[in-house]
Amino acid sequence: MEIKITKTDSPKKLIAENELGFGQFFSDHMFIMDYEAGKGWGNARIVPFGNISLHPASTVLHYGSEIFEGLKAYRTESGEIRLFRPMENIRRMNDSADRMCLPKINEEDFLQALTTFVELEKDFVPYSFGTSLYLRPYMFGNDETLGVHTVKRATFMIIASPSGSYYKEGINPVKIMIESEDVRAVKGGTGAVKCGGNYAASNRAGEKASKVGYSQVLWLDGVHRKYIEEVGAMNVMFKINGEIVTPMLTGSILPGITRKSCIEVLKDMGYKVSERLLSVDELVEALENGKLEEAWGCGTAAVVSPIGRFCYEGKEYDVNGGKIGAVTQALYDTLTGIQWGKKDDKYGWIYKVC
Ligand code: PLP
Ligand code: COI
Repeated sequence: MEIKITKTDSPKKLIAENELGFGQFFSDHMFIMDYEAGKGWGNARIVPFGNISLHPASTVLHYGSEIFEGLKAYRTESGEIRLFRPMENIRRMNDSADRMCLPKINEEDFLQALTTFVELEKDFVPYSFGTSLYLRPYMFGNDETLGVHTVKRATFMIIASPSGSYYKEGINPVKIMIESEDVRAVKGGTGAVKCGGNYAASNRAGEKASKVGYSQVLWLDGVHRKYIEEVGAMNVMFKINGEIVTPMLTGSILPGITRKSCIEVLKDMGYKVSERLLSVDELVEALENGKLEEAWGCGTAAVVSPIGRFCYEGKEYDVNGGKIGAVTQALYDTLTGIQWGKKDDKYGWIYKVC
């Protein structure tokens, strides 16, 4: 694929790494390409970062035709810039496209777009351990008509944000509210793909939780309102009486790449990992009788994030005295070690960009 590059004539000053936060600052350029039914994808280009112009009837503005991905570019101590399992993100984005009737992207073209863009923006990949250049590929339907139908035009973009930790708590345990009113997804819906609407619909519960000091919501299944699904921006895992339990992929949960990687690392560490249904009653019972030893979330932005407290129906429960547990710490160390090049990549998960 040919990618036309137009460089900015006003490069930005880099932000101090201790002030990065998540997703607040953006690099100098962005990748764009356009799709038209009958013609396919074309006009791949990297241009200076800036506002885009949309027709007021553009499909995405009315019917939420949007999907996205999230992955990171890491800098190792030796100066290598690398990605973590990028083909997994590429394939998941195409699965999302399939569900949302958006056009798929050739995997090699997608990888080329990512690597060309990251190489151009390499100065924006921060140096400190735990910081990275967060990459956000996304696609939206862009027909200029109000009819509800499969789109004939779409836009694919990648933007990049030098970022630190997702939660202000960093690696310190976060507080999670178990939501019993709103639901995020049901089987047959869009919960298993990464579309913007999933997140828009979860904001109300998130706001309610945030008002009482909770970082995110833990969703229950939409049919029985009983089984644990996932957290707003990450999958969730528990250590209950020695067993590692994570909700099985029922069709309403995002199949997280970090989740999949954690399962592999945990099995390698010798733990029994059960992907199964876990009811909120079982969780509360384990919290009450001290059998819940650890809980953590896992996702690209959040990495491995210990959970120190749950709230369910007005009652608060501490996990492991509000401290990070040994398994959570070991997982965090292993994954971040591989990502930032401090540990051997024995699984072959690293893709070197430059
Ligand atoms: N679940 C949801 C709803 C998410 O938004 C994310 C983040 O991408 C995850 C889980 C974790 O997925 P991954 O590990 O692929 O980033
Ligand atoms: C990610 O972890 O990359 C995500 O996409 C989560 C996001 C909603 C902040």
